[in-house]
Amino acid sequence: NTTKTRRIALIPGDGIGVEVATSARAVLAALDARHDLGIRIDEFDWSCQRYLDTGALMPPDGLETLRQYDAVLLGAVGWAGVPDHVSLWGLLIPIRRAFSQYVNLRPVRSFAGVTSPLADADNRPIDLVIVRENNEGEYSEVGGRFGRGGPGETAIQEAVFTRRGISRIADYALELASGRDRRVTSATKSNGLVHSMPFWDEVVRERADLRPEVELVEEHVDALAAKLVLRPESFDVIVASNLFGDILSDLAAAVTGSIGIAPSANLDPTGENPSMFEPVHGSAPDIAGKGLANPVGMLWSVVLMLEHLDAGEPAARLMDAIEASLRDPATRTADVGGTASTEQVTAAVLDLLAAD
Ligand code: NAI
Ligand code: MG
Repeated sequence: NTTKTRRIALIPGDGIGVEVATSARAVLAALDARHDLGIRIDEFDWSCQRYLDTGALMPPDGLETLRQYDAVLLGAVGWAGVPDHVSLWGLLIPIRRAFSQYVNLRPVRSFAGVTSPLADADNRPIDLVIVRENNEGEYSEVGGRFGRGGPGETAIQEAVFTRRGISRIADYALELASGRDRRVTSATKSNGLVHSMPFWDEVVRERADLRPEVELVEEHVDALAAKLVLRPESFDVIVASNLFGDILSDLAAAVTGSIGIAPSANLDPTGENPSMFEPVHGSAPDIAGKGLANPVGMLWSVVLMLEHLDAGEPAARLMDAIEASLRDPATRTADVGGTASTEQVTAAVLDLLAAD
């Protein structure tokens, strides 16, 4: 595969995003040297700092620039002085929507060495994937706010669900489950949301009928949240709308131990547009600049990126190295009960890759 080039746009962003991006760059360089992956990384300083300096998180032609890449790797965006909805809608959401990254894939699993807050977690290993709809649903621009400041002040936020949007996310989840434990749990709330969720349920059922080998289970999202805490080991693939999937995936990650290890992929499964890979965590201003950030969420996101870029073997090696680093108390960061720095964990992963 010497002729193949893999072009990656790296956006470190803000806070610990920059620190974990440094870790990703080092690991990608090592894997590229070893496996001849043709990786070319260009870096972009799109961030809240750029917004404060220039009035925009990315330049006007930012999306056109990214379109030329095979994948986007992002640290995190968000910083004091820039409201969170401005940073989210100024960079992340435009990328997800312009590139039809309609799948937000969030694998969640337990690791030896990472302590779950659940009492008997060792006896019931967690291994599930949340498939979150990433382009429509509750996160919409439709709505308005009026009567500002008065006693009748009102805000209306519409949720947008389409047959096309529900069908394609259901299909992705069903396909994924057919290669796993063949069970999809659909998060609904058709008792409270009387238009959108009955429609969601109908379309998900229609798609599931086409795949009889996969079992479909429907759960109201509130009951599902409780079960994710009580019996997380019982889930395989969970399919959910944008808002439900966002909440459930943070919950599931917390149940395994730390948000610092959780990865995500924003996928355009058609391959027409670049997909984007990013840790689930944010810029963590409380620990930024101190070298305390756990790089595992970012490095596991790199694993997902390499799999997507058709580099499955190096991806598997990196995953093995990540697992080994978590098993060793000397190479864990504080959020997972250790004292190692970001740099020390990165060095350990590089050593494990070199020894492999
Ligand atoms: P956060 O994920 O940045 O931090 C939550 C808590 O987890 C903090 O105590 C933090 O220290 C800890 N933490 C997070 N990642 C860690 C890591 N890798 N290693 C060790 N500890 C870690 O979420 P928060 O505080 O709600 O948001 C901070 C900023 O990040 C906000 O501006 C928010 O909008 C932004 N954000 C950006 C995201 C993105 O770029 N995709 C996602 C979530 C938040
Ligand atoms: Mg979230």
